[in-house]
Amino acid sequence: MEFDLTGGVYLARAYKLLAGLVTPRPIAWVTTHDEEGLVNAAPFSFFNLLGTDPPMLGFAPGDRAVGIPKDTARNIRRTGEFVVNLVDEACAEAMNLTSAELPPGENELVHAGLRTAPSHSVGPPRIAEAPVALECTEWSTLEMGGNRLVIGLIRHAYVREGVLDPETLLVDPAAYAPIGRMEVPAGYCRTRDRFDMPRPR
Ligand SMILES: Cc1cc2nc3c(=O)[nH]c(=O)nc-3n(C[C@H](O)[C@H](O)[C@H](O)COP(=O)(O)O)c2cc1C
Repeated sequence: MEFDLTGGVYLARAYKLLAGLVTPRPIAWVTTHDEEGLVNAAPFSFFNLLGTDPPMLGFAPGDRAVGIPKDTARNIRRTGEFVVNLVDEACAEAMNLTSAELPPGENELVHAGLRTAPSHSVGPPRIAEAPVALECTEWSTLEMGGNRLVIGLIRHAYVREGVLDPETLLVDPAAYAPIGRMEVPAGYCRTRDRFDMPRPR
């Protein structure tokens, strides 16, 4: 099958088509706060690591309506700081709960029964239940039609005890079970079925 994505019917259905095919995707579970310090949390699977020198990541919140950013993007624009928490199997349901649109002033983390822990280098806290948290400052936010690409400089990483060997920095696959976003509308995957494939020399 062929799909013209430059306009017409398939452009309108691009989310279904592309988000269903470009899988698995990691999930950035982003904590921010507004100018009053009210903490916000939301998941974003249009997300990946962008580089390591310097350490960078990016995620893409779509706008709510023309020119109106989601709370996460708005808070980052105003404070310049955020934390990307990574999501394992134990956090999956709570992560999903934080994607609900709550009335203003209601806290997604309380709604999902989650706790926060202070960050090391930025104002927004990390999610205490998450196995990994990457503290970021906003490098830049690109506005691309109705999408924004938030690019973050990773300043500090929290990794739960036991996830990796502190000497070698190698991850213990038995101790780290991230989930991935799969097919639309509600597919996810576990990552327990792994295999090694050394690169050719
Ligand atoms: C697993 C998952 C992945 C998501 N990925 C994205 C995404 O990449 N971009 C986006 O705009 N919304 C995404 N959403 C929806 C947002 O989480 C949702 O709109 C949320 O209410 C935004 O919250 P905020 O307004 O507090 O920023 C995703 C939801 C889930 C459950």
